[in-house]
Amino acid sequence: GAPHLAWGEAGLSLDGLALDELATAHGTPLYVYSRAAMQSALAPYQQALAGRPHLVCYAMKANSNLAVLQTFAQAGCGFDIVSGGELARVRAAGGDPAKVVFSGLGKTRAEMAQALDAGIKCFNVESEAELDVLSAVAAARGQRAPVSLRVNPDVDAKTHPYISTGLKGNKFGIAHTRALAAYRHAAGLPGLKVVGIDCHIGSQITEIAPYLDALDRVLDLVEAIEVAGIPLHHLDLGGGLGITYTDEQPPGADALIAALLAKLDARGHGGRELLFEPGRSLVGNAGVLLTEVLYLKPGEDKSFCVVDAAMNDLMRPALYEAVMGIVPLRPRADGTPEVVCDVVGPVCESGDWLGRDRALAVQAGDRLAVLSAGAYGMAMASNYNSRGRPAELLIDRGEALLVRTRETVEALHALERLPGA
Ligand code: LLP
Repeated sequence: GAPHLAWGEAGLSLDGLALDELATAHGTPLYVYSRAAMQSALAPYQQALAGRPHLVCYAMKANSNLAVLQTFAQAGCGFDIVSGGELARVRAAGGDPAKVVFSGLGKTRAEMAQALDAGIKCFNVESEAELDVLSAVAAARGQRAPVSLRVNPDVDAKTHPYISTGLKGNKFGIAHTRALAAYRHAAGLPGLKVVGIDCHIGSQITEIAPYLDALDRVLDLVEAIEVAGIPLHHLDLGGGLGITYTDEQPPGADALIAALLAKLDARGHGGRELLFEPGRSLVGNAGVLLTEVLYLKPGEDKSFCVVDAAMNDLMRPALYEAVMGIVPLRPRADGTPEVVCDVVGPVCESGDWLGRDRALAVQAGDRLAVLSAGAYGMAMASNYNSRGRPAELLIDRGEALLVRTRETVEALHALERLPGA
């Protein structure tokens, strides 16, 4: 899963830097990312697509730290954004707005205008109502907005229901059966220019088959839409490729893309520009969350290991019952007994756990790493319980850079006012 992690004298290290030492220097909870690991995760996408017109648009919702975005911008990536805030981050990180695709089913007029100003590559439109509004916003500015329709191919990505998006019952995309009519409608609107088609079927997908099913259904539509006289320049196949958290065995991006290209070629669509919107698979295994054991709380029914990171820092376990690896940074060899316990945070909710029934030989003061925490970790963190969000470090060529400071109490209060003050 994470080849940039290694065990040595000083315990667990990332790109050669001992994580326990980083925790001592910067405190916990602490996110640590490897720039090299992100670059190696991107490489199979780029290699598999070499020689074809393509654009890898990093789905920045997975991890939108500016230094992370800069890493992908410098590697030539575009970005998949879902808000005006994300667009601002692309620009702040030096990304190229002309390589941005704008997804999401609730774009506001203001966000549309910002994206038109920036000159983004494409709006991935998710409803017929959105087509009308986008056309009006663009036409009022004397522009034509480049659009793809996000079609819902109605395939089962076989993943967690909260992160499955390509089924009929999901709120995302335009139903397969409505797609041709919606394209006809789009082609007739004065403020739009149809440029492509888009689909995204879910996240943490560990099989190739659902992608191939979706591609077949999308290609059926492409053919019907073009017969109707509406040319489509690019095909955006979304993101969603899973990673190994514990024992999942997802295909590599290279294998997935090879299979998709084979189908595209076989159906005579090999020359089209291809877009992908990977998030998790580019950053998930490039990051860890470090936390310190505060208390051990043995019990008759259940034992707890109380740590200083909580659901507000990493909400995937609480929200999806996600299972993520948890390891001591310096495994003990002093006879400390292994205890099966739930690893829980200080937040006042029973759902505040990072791991359940984990066998750990630890004492208070020891540090743990939650593995595969580079995606949807810090990005989903909150200030619940008035907890400042963790600091973030990026390891780049052997050096650990503090790329976001720990949130201070002042920062937490900055937007509030006392009545009468
Ligand atoms: N494109 C669109 C339109 C998306 O909605 C998403 C993710 C992606 C691309 C990137 O998908 P990825 O390659 O990361 O699977 N918070 C959840 C995952 C939510 C995914 C939302 N959409 C989690 O922690 O598992």
